[in-house]
Amino acid sequence: MAGRIPDAFIDDLLARTDIVELVASRVKLRRSGSNHHGLCPFHNEKTPSFTVSADKQFYHCFGCGAHGTAIRFLMEYDRMSFPEAVEFLARQAGMEVPQQARASAPSPETASLYALMEQAAACYRQWLRQSPERQRVVDYLRSRGLSGDVAARYGIGYAPPGWDNLLKALADPEQLIRAGLAIRNEQGRVYDRFRDRVMFPIRDRRGRTVGFGGRVLDQQEPKYLNSPETPVFQKGRELYGLHECLESLRKPPEILVVEGYMDVVALAQHGIHNAVATLGTATTGAHLERLFQVCRDVVFCFDGDRAGRDAAWRALENALSVMRDDRQARFLFLPDGEDPDSLVRERGETGFRHLLADAEPLSEFLFRELSSDADLRTMDGRARLTERGAPLLARVPGGVFRDLLVDELARRAGVDREHVLAAMEGRGSPTGQQARPARADAAQAPQRRTTVRLAVALLLQRPALASLAGEPRRLSVLSLPGVPLLVRLLELLQEEPHLTTGAMLERFSGEEHEAALWKLAAWDHMVPADGVEEEFVDSIRRLEALLAEERLQDLHERLQQEGLNPQEHAEWLSLLQARR
Ligand code: UTP
Ligand code: MN
Repeated sequence: MAGRIPDAFIDDLLARTDIVELVASRVKLRRSGSNHHGLCPFHNEKTPSFTVSADKQFYHCFGCGAHGTAIRFLMEYDRMSFPEAVEFLARQAGMEVPQQARASAPSPETASLYALMEQAAACYRQWLRQSPERQRVVDYLRSRGLSGDVAARYGIGYAPPGWDNLLKALADPEQLIRAGLAIRNEQGRVYDRFRDRVMFPIRDRRGRTVGFGGRVLDQQEPKYLNSPETPVFQKGRELYGLHECLESLRKPPEILVVEGYMDVVALAQHGIHNAVATLGTATTGAHLERLFQVCRDVVFCFDGDRAGRDAAWRALENALSVMRDDRQARFLFLPDGEDPDSLVRERGETGFRHLLADAEPLSEFLFRELSSDADLRTMDGRARLTERGAPLLARVPGGVFRDLLVDELARRAGVDREHVLAAMEGRGSPTGQQARPARADAAQAPQRRTTVRLAVALLLQRPALASLAGEPRRLSVLSLPGVPLLVRLLELLQEEPHLTTGAMLERFSGEEHEAALWKLAAWDHMVPADGVEEEFVDSIRRLEALLAEERLQDLHERLQQEGLNPQEHAEWLSLLQARR
């Protein structure tokens, strides 16, 4: 087999494949509820116990236990090999199978991209200080209330008019194209991407410049031009201003998420240094993970108009799966026609902070939006509220916050808690409007979200994560269910990093854990693709914390019963100190 097929590709491929259509072209299926049923093609039967789930992209036979994804189906039914099945599905989806896995360590090539971005930033800063256009630019920045000091802190620069200022200064057209700073047109001519624009360097958490946003000085379109994604710049991960925020506040008590570059800079100008902006994209789970690593309280500031509400709702949807109990998200809707930039200039720091104090907690915004088009005086409206709310609540990690949300949804919909919980598990209403086989219910109920399960699922779905987990053996003393399996998977993958999801599942075929692994491999854990890495690292970190906790308990007990030797005593003390 040629190079390893990247798992992201497999994920994508499965996401774009309609398993119902695939199976239905070979097996007669009938729709019932959100599933399709039919006679199992893998064993002889007279009553259908074979189900295919469109949303889970998964088939399962309750009679013989056959199960799997579209890939596995082709392997079993059409007797294809794993690569053949992938190739077949890719052709159907119009995708090309990549043959080489991406390297995970930064290559020399990426390193030189960082260097180039830095040089470009220096050029733009230089041109702000001395170019024939200088006065016009400085006047513009002044008109927006910016001081030289803040402009310098954010590294603001200027790209002069002309097609090749940067090309001439940096003289490496191919690299500049790769860095997104130059463009090659259809005639093959290469020219600067940014011309006659105020330049905002986008820095990653470590302060390296990874991209730029460029704003026109007048009414031209587009108002802002952003760097395209490059090997060093992913918009779904980076946040404008986060580096600068952490430079001025080592531990910000909260972070504000605003929409624009200018909002971040204007707030800083007025002494509010803890604002960041997404880069013309929705707030992703990866963004939020990054923010919650820095502080526990995130406040979204959105326009009060429809577009702002939609953006806020998307942010809320992405926030749900990262809302652990120690985290808080709030929403501030700004008065019509205002943005943080205009507001802080109008009302000053104090006025703006007053507004912030009134930001709405996530739960309030959630229920307000959910209730907005459901008439709660009618049964219909209340049913709709439950139906819409339950899948959202199901995304929230288990804990006190989720319990409170469940109570609140039950209260508002006028139903009992059980009803909401049933809806969250996709069991439908207890009044039994949808008749589905009872066995299907049990087997298809989503799995309880434990740290170990999540880690195993992420690992199965993206085996490359194993390299981030450190030495697996250290985890094996943990007395949690599933830990031995997690350790075994980690060891297997660290030894054989080329293994794909399917190949790994194949290794476990016929073993006691096989069924559980298939389920986890197809589990919709709700972590967005670009947040998977951080979520995985985080789950390993949580296990390490538990490990420390268990060891501490152990030492503690022995301390009381038989005493500790000096070395153990020192360990006990340092574990106690590490516990926050
Ligand atoms: P806004 O249109 O709200 O602009 O875009 P703004 O931040 O208030 O800009 P000023 O105050 O007129 O300078 C918000 C964000 O949306 C993205 C940019 O990231 C911008 O900061 N955007 C906007 C673009 O990417 N392209 C555009 O043409 C406009
Ligand atoms: Mn603005």
